[in-house]
Amino acid sequence: TGLVTLDSGYGNTAAYKSGVTYLDGEQGILRYRGYPIEQLAEHGTFLETAYLLINGELPSADELSGFRGEITQHTLLHEDVKRFYDGFPRDAHPMAMLSSVVSALSTFYQDSHNPFDERQRHISTIRLLAKLPTIAAYAYKKSVGHPVVYPSNDLGYVENFLRMTFSVPAEEYVPDPVVVAALDKLLILHADHEQNCSTSTVRLVGSSQANLFASISAGINALWGPLHGGANQAVLEMLEQIQQSGGDVDTFIRKVKNKEDGVRLMGFGHRVYKSFDPRAKIIKEAAHDVLSALGKSDELLDIALALEERALNDDYFVSRNLYPNVDFYTGLIYRAMGFPNSMFTVLFALGRLPGWVAQWHEMIKEPGSRIGRPRQVYTGVVERDYLPVEQR
Ligand code: CMC
Repeated sequence: TGLVTLDSGYGNTAAYKSGVTYLDGEQGILRYRGYPIEQLAEHGTFLETAYLLINGELPSADELSGFRGEITQHTLLHEDVKRFYDGFPRDAHPMAMLSSVVSALSTFYQDSHNPFDERQRHISTIRLLAKLPTIAAYAYKKSVGHPVVYPSNDLGYVENFLRMTFSVPAEEYVPDPVVVAALDKLLILHADHEQNCSTSTVRLVGSSQANLFASISAGINALWGPLHGGANQAVLEMLEQIQQSGGDVDTFIRKVKNKEDGVRLMGFGHRVYKSFDPRAKIIKEAAHDVLSALGKSDELLDIALALEERALNDDYFVSRNLYPNVDFYTGLIYRAMGFPNSMFTVLFALGRLPGWVAQWHEMIKEPGSRIGRPRQVYTGVVERDYLPVEQR
């Protein structure tokens, strides 16, 4: 049909109107509900940022303590949910466990499937925010073969997650305040990013009026890929490979420029940012701060710095506007905190959850919101007649 326009990869198509996140890719500006990301990262907390994204305003002290209190009450997983982990192979990727268990939550909470019921929307939102850290920590425990650690309701959101992840029966993990503050900041910086692949997936699935758990599970799977949230794991693997081959940064850059085997400089480039990703600026500083505060040095950080320096001065990258993105330095921080590479994208998902939820709410509440249904340009055979199998 002549009316359909092809826009491969949605380079130029706005699928939604949204008042959640403002992004100016030319100038490198990112704001949640109008608040600059730099201010939220410096002064805010992840929970108040989640409240802001979902409700549109920063909470008052009472609203925040009510929100925190509700989340705290729902951190536990049903014991039957815990048994799902027994069925996964030991080397299962934590992202696969995360999306599967979130999808399975819909079987436990069939009382909150109706997206048009405000109370059901609210309770499914609280359950997801409360349980995702527990689901993530259990996935980690499964991968290392340790018993799970139940949530502790007298700890903050991030402290509780770290304790569930790193405590073992023989030794209670007491999180370093530097680690808590840095992880909180990283979660804020990941909390929303307008119509990226995973958020648009949440909206598309949600537009069919599927329940919130189903929609978020789909978003987690979309995030997993190496061109999206999976890039943080891919960056670390790239740095490790360069280290193992003797730290030869120039040879690697040459390979990228020659597009040998499709090798890309992971953690570089962005569809929308044509200048520095404002999140990457803050994260680069945080990487230095966390490593020095923890008294750790990491040869991989030196390799990353050398790669960045080469790329920012190389015409291949400059002419294509390729700058470090949010994923370039995060892995180094997560690694210093003690997370294995396979958990990095899970941490991205924990951060992105409020954005997914906020945009799902916005879509559901929008008057006249319709099912997402892209068109296509058909390139197949126009028409032919069926032949019985013996004549083919
Ligand atoms: N290394 C080398 N070349 C690159 C890179 C890179 N990281 N990114 C883009 N290019 C080249 C690409 O080869 C193409 O060159 P040419 O014009 O010669 O064909 C040109 O730049 C445009 O690339 P594109 O693939 O058309 O750009 P896109 O907007 O479709 O892709 C991207 C955006 C983020 C997928 C891409 O830059 C990329 O693959 N980066 C590496 C993976 C990554 O770090 N992803 C995280 C993105 S930010 C956070 C998130 O979404 O989770």
